[in-house]
This record gives sequence, C-alpha cells and structure tokens, in this order.
Amino acid sequence: MKNNVAYICRECGAKSMKWLGKCPTCGSWDSFDEEEYSAPAVAKPRHASLITSAVDAIPQKITDGGDELVERTLTGVGEFDRVLGGGIVAGSVVLLSGEPGIGKSTLLLQIFARAGKDTKVLYVSGEESFSQIKMRAKRLGIEPEGLYLYTETDVTKILAAADKLAPDYIVVDSIQTVYDPASPSAPGSINQVKGCAAAFVSRAKNTGCAVLLVGHVNKEGGISGPKVLEHIVDAVIHFEGDRTQAYRMVRAVKNRFGSTNEIGVFEMTERGLSEVENPSETLMSEATEGVSGCAAVCVMEGTRPIIAEIQALVTPTVFPAARRNANGVDYNRLCLIIAVLEKRLGLKFYQNDVYINVTGGLRLDTPSADVAIALALISSITDRPVKNKTLCFGELGLAGECRAASFAEIRIKEAKRLGFETVIIPKKNKEKMVGIDSEGVMPVGSVYELLTVLKQKND
Ligand code: TYD
Ligand code: MG
Repeated sequence: MKNNVAYICRECGAKSMKWLGKCPTCGSWDSFDEEEYSAPAVAKPRHASLITSAVDAIPQKITDGGDELVERTLTGVGEFDRVLGGGIVAGSVVLLSGEPGIGKSTLLLQIFARAGKDTKVLYVSGEESFSQIKMRAKRLGIEPEGLYLYTETDVTKILAAADKLAPDYIVVDSIQTVYDPASPSAPGSINQVKGCAAAFVSRAKNTGCAVLLVGHVNKEGGISGPKVLEHIVDAVIHFEGDRTQAYRMVRAVKNRFGSTNEIGVFEMTERGLSEVENPSETLMSEATEGVSGCAAVCVMEGTRPIIAEIQALVTPTVFPAARRNANGVDYNRLCLIIAVLEKRLGLKFYQNDVYINVTGGLRLDTPSADVAIALALISSITDRPVKNKTLCFGELGLAGECRAASFAEIRIKEAKRLGFETVIIPKKNKEKMVGIDSEGVMPVGSVYELLTVLKQKND
C-alpha cells in the first residue's frame, strides 16, 4: 500500500494528479480538493464490495424464479408512491435530492408518519438535533411509534446501530454529513460521500432493508457529491420547484423499479407538505383571462395530463442586446421558438425583451408545450389576448409546422373536463384520432393559423 495525493472535483468526481483551477470534465471553477488515497497493491474491480454474492453467482434462466424479489410497501403518501412506481421496494436505495429548504426532511418524516409498532425506521440526522426533529414532527401532528431518531454522522456507528435495531428502513439525512473515520478524505468530500453511500448500498442489498439517502444539490442545480451516486443507487428522486413557490414537484430522474416520467405534486403548508391530487385544477384556479400573453397548455407527466398556464411578456428593449428570460421552460427552446416566429410571421422579437413564466413553479421540459409558448409570445407582442377558454398543445418544427403530440385524446379529455371550449391540436393528431368528441377541437397545421385564436382589438 502506498499513500498518494490526488485532486478530486467536488462537483463531478473527476480525478487529477495535479491541482486545476477549472475542471475539464464538468467545467466548474475552483472545485478541486486535495485527497489522500491509498492505492491498493492489486487493483480491485470497481465497487467490488457492492456486488454481493458475485463470487458464487452462476448464469440463470430469466424465466426461473426471481418473482419474489420485488416487494413493495406503500408509504401512504400517494404522490411519492406514484413517483417511485408503487411504493418503496425492499432492499432498494433511493436518493432524494433537492435544494436546501425545499422540504426533503419534511417529506421523509411524513412518509414514515404511519410507521407503527411493526415497522422500524432508523432516522439518522446529521443536520438537526433530536429536539428539532421532534418539534417538527409535533408541528406536522405525527407521532410515529416505530421511528427511531439517531443524531450521528460516523458511518460505522450508524451501521452498528442498524445492526442492533434491524430496521426495515434507514433514512440518512443527509449523505453529505456522514463520514467514515477510516478514510483519509475529509468529511463531505466526494470520496467520503461515495464510500459511505456504498456502505449503505451493500447493507440494503444484504439485509433487504430499504435505504433513503438525502442529497443536497448546489445552486446551479447539479447534485454536488450525490451526482456521483446516481449510478450506484436504485432510484434518484429529485425535488423541484422554487422555495418561494407553494408548489413543489417530485420527479424520478432514475428509477430501476418503475418509469421515470411520473411526477408528484405537493404544496408546502403550515402543517407540512400536502398532496395535490388534481394539479390541473389547482394550477388553473388562478388563470388569467382577457390579458395578452397568457396561453393554457396540457402536458403529459407520465400517465397524467397536467394543465398549466404559460405567461409571456414581450416589451421593447432598452438594452443593447434584447433579454430573454425563461422560467419553467428551456431557454434554448424559447430562443428557437422566437426564431421560428421571427422568420415565419415576421414578428420583431429582436427589438424586444422576452420573459416567460409558467404559473405555479411547474417546469415544462417537453416539446409539446411549444405551440402554447408560441401562442403566448404572439399574443403578447401583438397585445391581443387569446380567446377565452382556449387551450393548446403540440410541438413546433423549424418550418413553423405543428407536429403531432402523444396522448392527444387524453389531453383533450382533460381540457374538456376543466371547461375549455376550444382545444388547439396539431393537424397530424386530428388525422389519427378516433372515437373522440371533436366538438371544439381545432386542428392547426402551422403557426400562421394561431393568429385566428387571438381576440380582435374590438372583441
Ligand atoms: P425542510 O424539510 O427542512 O427542507 P430540507 O430538508 O429540504 O432542507 O423544510 C424546508 C422549509 O419548509 C422550511 O424552510 C420551513 C418550511 N416548512 C413549512 O412551511 N411548513 C412545515 O410544516 C414545515 C415542517 C416546514
Ligand atoms: Mg433537511
């Protein structure tokens, strides 16, 4: 064994033999920490400790057994269960990531609110004291009998406590605070985070207890530290939204036990996070009518249609280069839509600042919101409101054509359920549609036709 010094990027885990001001892998500045590591004499396969029973595993037919492996438990927090694909899987490791203050600790306490005598949860906190957590539980009005609080950060002590208690669930809040005293790296460094997480992963695989790790993300949105954990955990659930907004979205970024496109919607209240089962109704309750720049859209989040409002504000610029600000939609997508509208409709966006916002703090990362973004932009620049009770969806091509969106029938049904009278859909969708009431459905082929749904000045 020989002791070496290496420099490891705090953001992405890239390793360098000398200190660098800028990480060549992820581009972060001043992110290299010096770490001492012992190079083993014989190189071990990566994550060898995680591959349990690797030595005596033999090839098996896929049809033979294995059905008993997935044992799920519903937590009772429906929105969280939905994102996980139907509850927590025994022996799985879930990483819950999000900005500080978004509600990770609150959600975890609420998930185990119903832990009765027969369920044991070891809740390890390296960030809050016993009395702080107890006070929060009181505030949330919960008294889970099976929840054991442990304020410790030494991973060996945590695992020893887990040995004694034999819990069904281990919660680690947060993985960045846990350290292994045997490792030469500083607590909170990539090596420590990785090593401790690996210890929890092998514990989960060996004993069948489920582990929930909390990971803080940095302000740029990347998961500092836990980014390197994404591939060793079974699921990564990301808490999205703004701390200042009431609504928070929980999204599966990776999920070995279910699909990744479901989202859970919560609202932060005085008594913790409450589930929003009908996000469309809640998001549209404050919708504006008769004001230019507002357009309703229906997007699919997994199997669920969600209706939201896109607001655009286009104002003459006073800057040398016009500003573009995208909140809730992708910045590059917005620039592309603006370019299409400039070219195809001759609208002069280059003389204007453009601000886009999605109400409720929702993020629409789907091209099926393109037509609605375009409609909001056209409405704002021409200062003509969209006709009342109008909703649209569809993707926009560079030629200005409206491209088909998936699940058109489901989106139309949801729009009608919420009382929309005109639903603008791509022409291509209309051609394929069968068995749906086409009253109020307006197929459009290109951006030119969008002008027809704007109110006239004297309407
Ligand atoms: P917290 O779960 O501590 O966030 P995280 O663990 O992700 O850092 O909660 C963050 C915020 O939520 C906190 O600023 C206060 C607020 N909050 C409420 O508004 N209502 C509540 O009932 C609770 C428990 C917290
Ligand atoms: Mg917390």
